[in-house]
Amino acid sequence: MVNKLLAIPLLAGLAAGWKNDGPANANHLFNAVHAVMRHPELAQFPNGVSFFLASVPQGTRFYHGTGHPEPIPGLQWVAFEPEHALNFARMARGGPPGGAAGGKEGAGTQQPLIDGGDNGGEERYGYLHTYVTAKELRLLYIDGMSAGPGGSPQSQDRILFNDTINNDFRGGPRVEGSLGGPAPDQQRARLGCQMASETWGGRIDGILRTEGDFEIIMCDFENSLDIVRVVQTKPRQRTRSLEESGSKFGKRGFTARYDDLRGHQAVIDFEHMVSAFSYDIDLFPNNATRPMLKDVPRASLDPIKRDLDAMILSESPARDVFNWQAVTDNIIDRYAARLRTYADGTSFESKDALYENLEAFFAPFLDYASFPDDPAAVIASCQAQLIAPTAPVDGAVAQAVRHVLFRVCSTFTDVLVQDLELDAALDRFEELVAYLGWTELTDSN
Ligand SMILES: *[C@@H]1O[C@H](CO)[C@@H](O)[C@H](O)[C@H]1NC(C)=O
Ligand SMILES: *[C@@H]1O[C@H](CO)[C@@H](O)[C@H](O)[C@H]1NC(C)=O
Repeated sequence: MVNKLLAIPLLAGLAAGWKNDGPANANHLFNAVHAVMRHPELAQFPNGVSFFLASVPQGTRFYHGTGHPEPIPGLQWVAFEPEHALNFARMARGGPPGGAAGGKEGAGTQQPLIDGGDNGGEERYGYLHTYVTAKELRLLYIDGMSAGPGGSPQSQDRILFNDTINNDFRGGPRVEGSLGGPAPDQQRARLGCQMASETWGGRIDGILRTEGDFEIIMCDFENSLDIVRVVQTKPRQRTRSLEESGSKFGKRGFTARYDDLRGHQAVIDFEHMVSAFSYDIDLFPNNATRPMLKDVPRASLDPIKRDLDAMILSESPARDVFNWQAVTDNIIDRYAARLRTYADGTSFESKDALYENLEAFFAPFLDYASFPDDPAAVIASCQAQLIAPTAPVDGAVAQAVRHVLFRVCSTFTDVLVQDLELDAALDRFEELVAYLGWTELTDSN
């Protein structure tokens, strides 16, 4: 019987050490990496606080909807999907009623590509432009639902733009050279691209963000993109409102497969990132469930911006970086369902039943020549299964993902080698589940 084997006291110091090692917010950083460029996860973690370097290979297609057929000269948005761009091709000139200059953040998806066509009659049409990247693009990826709605542009407004975005701007006369879309977002685009050329010496070609879909604020169409095709869109009635097309777009379903096919046209460099999670800042005031930058003093954010500038000025996004997101996938695939069963608390009638199940699950990591005398060896074996010896050791993401896996492996090992009562054992898994905060563990389905 397994419990006879387990009747050996655990090294007390080791148990204590398991709890507190590791970087601050490793669990949150892990979840941020898992959510990168994925809609279902971003819906759960909309408030990003991290910035990554990213790249897009030469020859990648992007789409832009607008009211005129001429190629875009300077700064504008591109979409990853033609359907996304088409929404903007159909817009009325001057943007949506009360929307283009109205700062409609929080009201739904933004409308960045608005500059719709108006042929003077009852019907309106626009143009769908198709571009390909003329070179490999270097991008700054802002994580979370960073193109809105709601509080999710916080990392831009507070860290990147140092509180200079005017989110209260309403209405007013049409701005000469308007980019279309909500005024605060026009301001973000202009400031971001100004920063790209002035602060970052042209080392960034655009800013990659997520809203209803993925989009890039492209700073210089002429130098970054080649036009492939321009088509006129089907005319549509004046009476059809923006909200109609906007809400239709908003209801599109984004599956993990969709995100992995489309989103991964951009390669996120997990080794080059700057995250507020790595700084000594209270991101969860009053037990907030999402990281909040709102009340963080400005001076605490300055070091993050300085480190971000330094990263952009000294590093280039690498394309062949180690894929830490794939590691988070493997960890969640292996452990989420099992943890859910343990944390549920009702799946096992007896301690023996639990330990039998646990031992079978952990069998690949147990060397019965030494088990249970050498818990460290069990943990190491468990970790090695999902993180190769050649994986990077340095960097916030590497340390966070390694630490989270360590917490998982050490909790299982700890429970296995200690002879805990059923409730005490299940409590340990409940604690782990609370720490991890995986969407796979909180979803009701
Ligand atoms: C936060 O949660 C802890 C533990 O549940 C509780 O003791 C504390 O009062 C909470 N703080 C606030 C400000 O709600
Ligand atoms: C942000 O703005 C404040 C006030 O204008 C300034 O003191 C600070 O240096 C700025 N921070 C950065 C990182 O530019």
